[in-house]
Amino acid sequence: MEYQWYPGHMTKARRMMQENIKLIDLVIELVDARIPGASRNPDIDELGGGKPRLVLMNKADLADERKTAAWVRYFEDRGCFVIPLDARSRNGMKAIDRKVELACQEKIQRDRSRGILNRPVRAMVVGIPNVGKSTFINSFAKKAVAKTGNKPGVTKGKQWIRMSKTLELLDTPGILWPKMGDQQTGLYLALIGSMNDEILDPEKMALSLIALLQEQYPGVIEKRYGFTDLVLSDEDEGMAIRMLEEIAKVRGCLKKGQEADLTKAAGLFLEDFRSGRLGRITLEQIPTEKEEEEENQ
Ligand code: G4P
Repeated sequence: MEYQWYPGHMTKARRMMQENIKLIDLVIELVDARIPGASRNPDIDELGGGKPRLVLMNKADLADERKTAAWVRYFEDRGCFVIPLDARSRNGMKAIDRKVELACQEKIQRDRSRGILNRPVRAMVVGIPNVGKSTFINSFAKKAVAKTGNKPGVTKGKQWIRMSKTLELLDTPGILWPKMGDQQTGLYLALIGSMNDEILDPEKMALSLIALLQEQYPGVIEKRYGFTDLVLSDEDEGMAIRMLEEIAKVRGCLKKGQEADLTKAAGLFLEDFRSGRLGRITLEQIPTEKEEEEENQ
């Protein structure tokens, strides 16, 4: 996947979003539950034009349930409606209609007072690449009755998918740019596989992931690869390297001459993380108040 964002892309995405926002009642924002903050678009509050927001924390099947619950509260405290979701297996889908109603209560009341009954809420799905927008629309639409055609008053060419009595979705999602600015965000996006792996250094990424996991999920690596005699401490300078060497040994990643093939081991290790074989892991912590203040400056 091409994953470079240039100002040109951003301008186009922004323009599309500004055009479409006028047509909708609700923004459905998908984030990756393993990095809920880093997988958001930094300008979404401004771009959302004050419309109610439903945050779907997708890939919740891969994330740590306890941390997901804490992130749900975090987003709710900031005025969003939130549902953890696994768009692939459709877990969480049932809660959507009810949340949409809650999020759009004002609009529904307004319609009612004008004698308009049961006009569905119109929404647009937005999110950075690879968060699962298409998977969500497709699996949600599977049970949908039909695509609704162009309607009077709606910009030509826009297609709406009728999801339920309550909800219609614009069939093309809004692709937003990720916040590539700071190192940590870039690392998180790379680790979950949202960036073009070809331009990244798997070994460096694996070493960073090892360090992160040792801090936040001590023991998971040892458990996955069955290390028994590896004694490491946090102060151990070469801890991450030694661990990667050990993974190479256990998984038989060896070059000619029995030297550990760290690039190959790194690839296997990253794949184990991305596919959930290391367990359910959330990499990103909820920001502290101080961090948030700095962010908003
Ligand atoms: P996008 O439109 O936002 O760019 O994302 P897309 O739906 O293409 O999904 C990106 C990848 O994420 C796909 O995997 C998809 O199957 C996976 N995915 C989407 N939702 C979920 C979820 O809730 N849980 C998990 N575990 N995975 C999810 P892929 O490797 O690109 O394709 P494939 O393996 O499905 O063939």
